[in-house]
Amino acid sequence: MTLWSGRFIAPMDETLWDLSESYSFDHVLYAHDIVGSQAHVRGLLAAGLLTEDEATTLLSTLDTIRLEFIGGTFERAARDEDIHTAIERRATELAGDVGAKLHTARSRNDQIATTLRLFTRDALSEVAYATLQLVEVLLELGEALPDAHLPGYTHMQRAQPVLLSHHLNAHSFALLRDVDRLGDARTRLNVSPLGAGALAGTSLAIDPEITAQLLGFDSAFANSMDAVSDRDFIAESLFDLALLGVHLSRMGEELVLWTSAEFDFASLGDDFTTGSSMLPQKKNSDVAELARGKSGRLIGNLTGLLVVLKGLPLSYNRDLQEDKEPLFDSLRQVLLVLRALRGAYGSLKFHDEVAAAAADDEMLVAIDIAEELVGEGVPFRRAHERVGQLVAEALLSNQSLRDVVQSTEETKRFAGLFDKGVSLQRRSSPGAAGPKASEAQTKKLKAALEHAKTRFD
Ligand code: ARG
Repeated sequence: MTLWSGRFIAPMDETLWDLSESYSFDHVLYAHDIVGSQAHVRGLLAAGLLTEDEATTLLSTLDTIRLEFIGGTFERAARDEDIHTAIERRATELAGDVGAKLHTARSRNDQIATTLRLFTRDALSEVAYATLQLVEVLLELGEALPDAHLPGYTHMQRAQPVLLSHHLNAHSFALLRDVDRLGDARTRLNVSPLGAGALAGTSLAIDPEITAQLLGFDSAFANSMDAVSDRDFIAESLFDLALLGVHLSRMGEELVLWTSAEFDFASLGDDFTTGSSMLPQKKNSDVAELARGKSGRLIGNLTGLLVVLKGLPLSYNRDLQEDKEPLFDSLRQVLLVLRALRGAYGSLKFHDEVAAAAADDEMLVAIDIAEELVGEGVPFRRAHERVGQLVAEALLSNQSLRDVVQSTEETKRFAGLFDKGVSLQRRSSPGAAGPKASEAQTKKLKAALEHAKTRFD
């Protein structure tokens, strides 16, 4: 029997059933759906639509159903279309007519909107936590190798030396922005749709503010049609997850490069690499490649949902059921990547000598000579040109830049700039890549990390 069997004579065709049932994927919402129903019961009690006894029975019946789910003994009946139907059917089995009162002044339309907001609120916190844990590992890696440095790149060409911790901090700041965005999304979604009914509210004397408060929402909906049709919070969450995924993808790409024989800046632990089924010598950074590859479906999930939403007339349309799988998938994939990358960075062996040798490429000192000239009063554009000529001379005469600088009367006083690590030390402006500036910035990062943690407590 379906929830609407009163009006229908012929049973639903199997193909429509297969198309429309959602229990197979929305049963994971059971805990949040039950919490929402329990608040609804209290709201009905406050409205005088249930007696104390009825409310008590319903609350404990819902507790029993929760335990059945937790214990794995909840059995879906053949015609349970979705999680809401299944729980209401079971409540009625267990509590008889009292169970049949559960759906008073409620529609599955405001119910699913409520359940999804509760679920997403928790899920975004979980992602935020996992992201902060990744930031912690990046910080540890930088602090374990305080002197390690590598070339910083623009256009994938060596540009200037940077401290390893500075480089890793760059990723961490992006990740903290992601966490911040997740927090903002969570704040914005924290409005209760419960009480909107199918689309236009009800004649029964419920107060949506009561249930909103019970469920920890900041407020109740203002407009019932908006309440049942708004999936902005899912689109926004999917965007936040996609952007986080894009950041993780960039980190993955970097690990792929670093662990290649061509770069050889780092290697991953055996426990975070895979072998080849054919080539015995291979040690592959699949973890990094998957971190990169997962971003494809994260972006796909976002665009998929936006396309579902774009043509929908007000208010609830069944198309909205298509909001769940992309959301569940993006959450799951992002968590998988965050946890695996955390382990991978934890296992990372940074080859500081190789990276330092690349960072100490003498060509990277060119800007230091130009900046010294600026310090002596030469306009920067002239200084740039003069050093450019020295670089050209070195390249054309097959000498090192240092030799050219040293053997030229006018520039030989700059030879000391080529000593190892000097250029890195000189990156000293606020926020720069040298040790002093980096130290200050790591402090800022740590403070931001602690603040972010308190936001998700
Ligand atoms: N399973 C449905 C969904 O996810 C619940 C709402 C059903 N509402 C309806 N009018 N058929 O959207």
